Amino acid sequence: MEKKNIDWANLGFSYISCDSRYVSNYKDGSWDEGGQVADETIALNECACVLQYAQTCFEGLKAYTTQDGRIVTFRPDLNASRMADTAKRLEMPVFDEQRFVDAVCETVLANEAYVPPYGSGATLYIRPYMFGTNAVIGVKPADEYQFRVFTTPVGPYFKGGAKPLTLCVSDFDRAAPRGTGHVKGGLNYAMSLHAIVTAHKNGFDENMYLDAATRTKVEETGGANFIFITKDNKVVTPKSDSILPSITRRSLLYVAEKYLGMEVVEREVLFDEVKEFAECGLCGTAAVISPVGKIVDHGKEINIPSGMDDMGPVTRKLYDTLTGIQMGRLEAPEGWIKVIK
Ligand code: PLP
Ligand code: COI
Repeated sequence: MEKKNIDWANLGFSYISCDSRYVSNYKDGSWDEGGQVADETIALNECACVLQYAQTCFEGLKAYTTQDGRIVTFRPDLNASRMADTAKRLEMPVFDEQRFVDAVCETVLANEAYVPPYGSGATLYIRPYMFGTNAVIGVKPADEYQFRVFTTPVGPYFKGGAKPLTLCVSDFDRAAPRGTGHVKGGLNYAMSLHAIVTAHKNGFDENMYLDAATRTKVEETGGANFIFITKDNKVVTPKSDSILPSITRRSLLYVAEKYLGMEVVEREVLFDEVKEFAECGLCGTAAVISPVGKIVDHGKEINIPSGMDDMGPVTRKLYDTLTGIQMGRLEAPEGWIKVIK
């Protein structure tokens, strides 16, 4: 398979159209057979539920070329089940979880020429998503839906790759208690756009959101969960009902405990404690693990001891172990790697 002529090493996180994408439609209570199409555009009724009431959800995962030349993806079953949870919360029909995994693998294979080579620093980002398609003017769920999967080759999510980030404590809330913060609906991202534009205007890389009820506890950023390393080498990650259950974070906790012999703790994290941690990172499919060097709360700076030059040593170990598993350099726990080819 001849690869596309792409400057893999200098890719950022932006959309490049690939050759093929998966489409399945839901009508009269069931999903059709689905299949690959070439057209990247979608024609919709002007009153489609997704356009009027934002009835849409998505997932994100990646395909990797391993050291020995296979193409694999990482824990797609967990994306399938999280999308099922999201669909239920947004009154959308569930796309069968096995079919989800099959559609992901099929779409990657159809775009094999876009899967970045091993060692290039790039990966193939996979975006499964679903939305209400028929006309709905009263506020109610659609009756018809489309499920699609596209792929796009990507480099690092944050410009500068592994350079530590500067965050600001956001004045906006990301998710309400008993709201939708724990699922991956497009609505959570729409309402974060003003906050991220504001953060960027003020010179920050990302927002740290606090819990909406008390604004004393650390939640997450717009697109990643937090991990913290304590001065006595424990991994601490915030527990909250209003953050997205990151697959990367769940995997890192396992890796820290089982591969690195570290103690891991999932608990509420007070913002007041953040200054006590030795290292801080953002974790997610797009973010992988991006180190945080500084957090600014209305002019008050918290300088993370690992500094602004490089990833902290524990974050580095976690990063190397996780990406080692994903790229086939380290043995993966049972069921984590789905071989596509
Ligand atoms: N939190 C939010 C708000 C996200 O959008 C994402 C990305 O999917 C994550 C966390 C990280 O989740 P995952 O590791 O499953 O990609
Ligand atoms: C991901 O990491 O896959 C995400 O969905 C985060 C962001 C790109 C929205």
